[in-house]
Amino acid sequence: MSFNKKSLEDINVKGKKVLVRCDFNVPIVEGKITDENRLLGAIPTIEYLVNNNAKVILCSHLGKPKGEPKPELSLSPVAARLSELLNKKIIFAADDNVVGDKAKSAISDMNDGDIVLLQNTRFRKEETKNEENYSKELASLCDLFVNDAFGTAHRAHCSTVGVTEFVEESVCGYLIQKELKFLGEAIENAEKPFTAILGGSKVSDKINVINNLLEKVDNLLIGGAMAYTFLKAKDYKMGISRVEEDKIDYALEMMDKAKEKGVKLYLPIDHVVATEFDKNANPVITEDENIQDGYMALDIGPKTRELYAEVIAKSKTIIWNGPMGVFEFENFNKGTIAVGEAMANCDGITIIGGGDSAAAVNIFGLGDKMTHISTGGGASLEFLEGKELPGIVALNDK
Ligand code: 3PG
Repeated sequence: MSFNKKSLEDINVKGKKVLVRCDFNVPIVEGKITDENRLLGAIPTIEYLVNNNAKVILCSHLGKPKGEPKPELSLSPVAARLSELLNKKIIFAADDNVVGDKAKSAISDMNDGDIVLLQNTRFRKEETKNEENYSKELASLCDLFVNDAFGTAHRAHCSTVGVTEFVEESVCGYLIQKELKFLGEAIENAEKPFTAILGGSKVSDKINVINNLLEKVDNLLIGGAMAYTFLKAKDYKMGISRVEEDKIDYALEMMDKAKEKGVKLYLPIDHVVATEFDKNANPVITEDENIQDGYMALDIGPKTRELYAEVIAKSKTIIWNGPMGVFEFENFNKGTIAVGEAMANCDGITIIGGGDSAAAVNIFGLGDKMTHISTGGGASLEFLEGKELPGIVALNDK
C-alpha cells in the first residue's frame, strides 16, 4: 500500500467544484441513523473544503439498491442529519438518475462554500460495474475529486475508482489519511508487544487476516465462534457449537505457523454456553475448553476474560476485529465488554478494526476511550489482510 498519495493540502480548491466520495452507508432504522461514526468521520474534510471556499458536492452509496432507485435507500436522512452536525444547510439533490437534471441544476446554483449531496450512487446500475459512461458523468459535475470513503475503498466502483480517470486531480481526504495512519502504522510499525484480537462468527471470513497478522503480532487472541473451529482442531469437545469442519486443517496450519513465528496464539479456556441460540437462553459456564453434548458456546468464559485482559494490559499496540460472543444478547455480552474495557484501560495504542466490534464499543460506551475506531468493515479487513485498496491506489501520487 502506497501512502504517498496527494491530499487536500496539495490542491487549490478555492472556487472549484469538488466531488467528495464519502461512505454514508450507515444503519437507518425508521428514518433515524443509529450509528453516526461515518458521518462524524466525514466532517473534517467537508469543513476544510467549505472553509476554503470550494463548492462541495458530496456523494455516497447506501445499502444495495441493485442499480435502481429505492426510496427506502434514499440519502435524504443523511442530508438532514449531516446538516445538523455541520450546522450548515445541505442541498439534497433528490435525483433518481444521481447525475441528472436535478443534480446539475442544484450544482449550477451553488456558491463557493455551499454543499450539495447527490442521491445514492448505487441507484445507477453502472456504479458497481465501474462502467465508463457513469464515471464520466460523475466527473463532468466537478473539477476535482476527493475520496474520503475509507469504508468503500475496497470497492472498484465508478464513484471510487472510475471517476478518477476523468478528473484533473484525485486526492484523499482527512478520514482516509487518518485511517491509513492508524491502521497502517499499527500493522507496519507497531510498538511491541503487539496484540491482535480476532473474533466473529467465521474462520472463513478471516483466513487471510489471520495469516497476515501472524507475520506481525506477538500475541493473537481468538474469540467468538471462530475459536470453536480452532479448539475442535485441538480435539476438544465442542458440543453443538458452530464449527467449520472444512477449516480445521487451516486452523492446524495457522497454529503451526504461530509456533514457527514465535507468536503466542490464545484460545478460550472456558465458555459461556447454552442449549439454544436465544437471547433468553440460560447461560452456563464451562469448567474448561470442553463443551458438553447439546450445548453451544455463545461467549468466552470468565477465566478467558481474565486471561485476555492480562495480555491486553501488557500490550503497547492492540488491534481488535470481531466480537467475543453474541454481544447483542445480554446473557452473552460479557466477553466482548471485558475485551473492550481492557482495551479502554490500556495505555497503549488501541485500534478497533471496524464492523461489529466498532458497533460494540459504541454500544457499551467505550468508544471515546479508544485511540482509533475504523469506519471500515470489509475495507479494514482487506487492509489487515495486507491487500491494496483500489479506491486508494487510484488516487494521484505526490
Ligand atoms: C461497508 O459498509 O462495508 C461499505 O460501505 C461497503 O458496502 P458494501 O459492502 O455494500 O459494498
